[in-house]
Amino acid sequence: MRFQTERPVTWQVCIACGNEMTELDAHARCSTCGGLLEVQHRPPALTAAELIQRFTERRGQAPGAPTSGVWRFREVVLPSAQDVVSHPEGNTPLLQRDVIDRWAGADRLLLKHEGHNPTGSFKDRGMTVGVTQARRIGARAVACASTGNTSASLAAYAAQAGLPALVLVPADQVAIGKLAQTLAYGARTLLVRGDFDDCLRLVEEASRSLGVYLLNSINPFRIEGQKTIVLELLQQLGWQPPDWIVLPAGNLGNTAAFGKALLEAFRWGLIPTLPRLAAVQAAGAAPFARSFADDFENRYAVRAETVATAIRIGDPASFERAVHAIRETNGVVLAVTDEEILEAKAVVDGSGVGCEPASAASVAGVRDLVRRGLMAPDQHAVAVLTGHILKDPGLLLRYHREMEPPPPGANRPIEIAAELRAIEAVLGSGVGGVILSEKTESS
Ligand code: F0G
Repeated sequence: MRFQTERPVTWQVCIACGNEMTELDAHARCSTCGGLLEVQHRPPALTAAELIQRFTERRGQAPGAPTSGVWRFREVVLPSAQDVVSHPEGNTPLLQRDVIDRWAGADRLLLKHEGHNPTGSFKDRGMTVGVTQARRIGARAVACASTGNTSASLAAYAAQAGLPALVLVPADQVAIGKLAQTLAYGARTLLVRGDFDDCLRLVEEASRSLGVYLLNSINPFRIEGQKTIVLELLQQLGWQPPDWIVLPAGNLGNTAAFGKALLEAFRWGLIPTLPRLAAVQAAGAAPFARSFADDFENRYAVRAETVATAIRIGDPASFERAVHAIRETNGVVLAVTDEEILEAKAVVDGSGVGCEPASAASVAGVRDLVRRGLMAPDQHAVAVLTGHILKDPGLLLRYHREMEPPPPGANRPIEIAAELRAIEAVLGSGVGGVILSEKTESS
């Protein structure tokens, strides 16, 4: 179908065949060819200056949906949504730490910390829109496949909306914090003996056969919400775009969302230039990086393996959307090793900021970009930290307590008897000894 007369405010279009579908159509994919859908909006009726003023005003309002870092941008996210399911979410900080700059070799690096969202990851930005849309179309239940963060977020927002949630996750491959959240928020959780790619295939089939609304990032409304990571960071920078935006990439929903946000912001006059996107994969789960090396001539599927379980994905669903995002922003796709991810994570954690393993891929990616001469050290870069440090405590404890030889930054705890002498015995040497003797002298 193609809308002939006046365009509605919002509609969906298939990126493969151009078929147009209404805003409230519940299909997860194009009803004609099965391609990926994209949400489109009529250009906002306001000028860029008026839009920016409106976004700014909402920032300071009383708590509730308008101040949400997603719904603040409602004109370019989902203009006709009325009764939104909002925590609220977003409003995450942009951080700077010298120790991280030094490690990465980048002088002007900012970290957009999406771990500060209500369930601890950027997924909340997509889920507030996805679950709002589920309610608008009258869905009776919602579902997703996940490496853990999407499931935690879906479970929380479905609980808020009073909708039953079905979640499929790979058995034994989900970080413990994420699984615990998903259970606690009350989603029906199935541990699939397979990997994430199996879970996604299965949940698409199950949502069709059971008539459940699918809320993976295949769903284009999720993408609309995730665009606001970029919009919010641009707002924080006074609409002066950085040179680079660097993010971890797995199923490629976020890469697609970032590209769409930037292109729309540019087209609608919110920003004067387009930053370059750098999507960073884990080397053991890097089918997109491989395609990039081929100039996107081929699409690959791999059997994925990485310590960063969030991005342990071998056949990313949003491939075509993400190709568009990288091409249109003159972007690049990199792969970093697990060792680089863990080293970057130790630096981010040790700075007091902290993030989950997949998030550290973006900081490792910045170092790689600088080392390869793609990014000049004085260029302005924003790296996105996608999830909270407490998402994966299992890996943290293995890293700090068990790994042999001790990896960079390993902080071994020491068990002692419950006696002052035991403390003195431990702190008798090194920095601890200095602290202890200073205290003794001044007392
Ligand atoms: N970082 C974190 C912390 C993630 O949880 C994910 C994806 C990504 C990066 C990659 O984003 O898939 O849009 O390229 N997590 C999904 C999940 C797959 O199920 O939670 P992407």
